[in-house]
This record gives sequence, C-alpha cells and structure tokens, in this order.
Amino acid sequence: MKAKARAHANIALIKYWGKEDEELSIPNNSSLSLTLEAFYTETEVEFSELISEDEFYLDNRKDDITLLKVSKFLDLFRDRLNIKTRAIVKSINYVPTAAGLASSASAFAALAAAANKASGLNLNDKALSTFARKGSGSATRSIYGGIVEWQKGDSDQTSYAIEIDDANWDIGMVVVLVNSNEKKISSTKAMKQTVLTSPYYPSWVKDSEKDLIDIKAAIKDRDIRKIGEISERNALKMHATMLAAKPPIMYFEPNSILVIQIVQQLREKGIAAYFTMDAGPNVKILCKLSDANTIKEDLLKSFDKKDIIVTKVGPKVQII
Ligand code: DP6
Repeated sequence: MKAKARAHANIALIKYWGKEDEELSIPNNSSLSLTLEAFYTETEVEFSELISEDEFYLDNRKDDITLLKVSKFLDLFRDRLNIKTRAIVKSINYVPTAAGLASSASAFAALAAAANKASGLNLNDKALSTFARKGSGSATRSIYGGIVEWQKGDSDQTSYAIEIDDANWDIGMVVVLVNSNEKKISSTKAMKQTVLTSPYYPSWVKDSEKDLIDIKAAIKDRDIRKIGEISERNALKMHATMLAAKPPIMYFEPNSILVIQIVQQLREKGIAAYFTMDAGPNVKILCKLSDANTIKEDLLKSFDKKDIIVTKVGPKVQII
C-alpha cells in the first residue's frame, strides 16, 4: 500500500494551449515535448486504513491548499477500485536551485505512478498517462522519457501520450531562470481566457497541427535546425495568440527578451540555438547537447551561474 515514484518535467516544442473538454482535460491540439533530466519530482503515496483524511506534504511542509487537488486526483484511483482508503502523500521537487521551475507535469506524473503502484491498480503507461492528464494536461507527457507526443484524441481513453523517439542523440536544453516567483496568471486560467477571447485562437489550433507533422519529420531526420525553427515559431504563435486575448496575457519580462536576443546572436554565429517559453518568463533554449556549454558561456556574460541550467533528455517515470 506504499510506493514512491520519480517523474521528470517536460518542455513542449509544440505547445498544448487550450482545452476542448475542461472536465477531462482533453486539449484542442496535440502537442510534443522533450522530457528533461535535470528537473523532477519524487512522490510517495501510502494508503492507510488508520487515517480518515488524506494528508499532503510538499518539500517536507504540510500543504493543505494543494491537498484538495491531490485528494481529487487520488479519487480517480479510489473510484476505479471502489475503495475509500485515505492516503499520506509526500512530494519533493528536485530542481538544481531553489527556483520556480517545479512543474505540475512532473508532480502529477509522479503522483499518478506512485498511486498506481500503491493502490495496486497497475495501469499500463498509456492508461497512466490518461490519469496524469486529469491532474494537469502537461503531466500526460511526463509519463514518458525522450520525445513525447500527446495525441489529443476525443475521449478520456483516446487522449494519451506516447514516446516517439528516445532522443538518445545530440539534443539538449539550456534553461535560463529569469524570474522564479509564482506565475502572474496560471496556465489553466490563461489558456481558458485565450480560448474564449483571442481572435487568433482558431489559427493557433490549425497551425499547430501542421507544426506537429513538420516537427515529427524533422525529428526523424534528427535535423536540430528544423526542429528548433518549428518549435521556436510555435512558441511565438502561442504567445501571440494570448497577447491578443482580452485582457491580454503577457509572460515576457525584459530579461526574457534579453535571452531571446542572445539566442538570435548565437545563431548568427552559426550555433543551432532556439528558444521556447511557457506560461512564465523563463526561457528554455533547445540545442545540440554538445553546444550547451558554449551557449552557457555566452549567457554567463549577462546571467548568474545559478540561473543557467544545462540538461540532457530525461527518462520515463520510474518506481524507486
Ligand atoms: C504553456 O499543463 O500547466 O506549458 O492542464 O490546466 O494544468 P493544465 O495546464 P498545464 O499547461 C501547460 C501549458 C504550457 C504548454 C505545454 O506544456 O504544452
């Protein structure tokens, strides 16, 4: 009745932005991501007949706010097994600095895997990714390592992720922490606002489908420049769509733009470096892993060492 799992965060190269079904977290478009080695969450779940309420500890501190989401998520397992047993959940986010890159993706993927084992439900990875999805959309992809595609599907059973490439080649990321404070507006809220009010939203969905086809071809060819060009533009299209929402949603900060300019200059010097950004000001640079330290050196002229993290591609969720 007790198990511990480790899941890694992922960064989307083709973004998930907007839900077709809010309740089930079925997205409007399929997405594709890279699982990262450097960022992960470890979560232990212990079902116990001795307690009458769920308990949740995050980084060794009791967290009654997140507990509500955790409890609701555990209900997915309890309902399936027809049990009422409560659980003690202990979760630790591992990030290289005390920075805010802790993600709901690694959190819900680790929780799903630990609850799956501890409860004895024993879902396979595909079914597990549909469970993780209901915790947080991006968690669907963190069940797998390497390069992962979340196929949008059109029902609870058909919206899941699969690994499409182990990414065991020269590819990596440099993450630049621009600001580690709490996000101004959560991705859940921001994407809803975009779907409801941005005049560009339908084009975003349509373009993403094409981007996904193109990036998969580039991944087959291991063409880092093509992969980078498509993902950078996809991220910009997502941000352009949300900039046009009402009220507008803007995650860029001055230092985000600075990183973007550094990336553009690196490219002028012939280095294959491409940026992407999510629902926050931090910038992630896609590159050849063999170029990552050169890119870091350049960033060190403007950023602190502790705010630049080089990472290779991470593995799938594991029971530890
Ligand atoms: C910009 O997965 O955090 O990072 O499903 O509402 O929990 P919810 O949203 P979340 O959104 C992630 C958005 C993104 C793009 C991506 O990871 O694909």
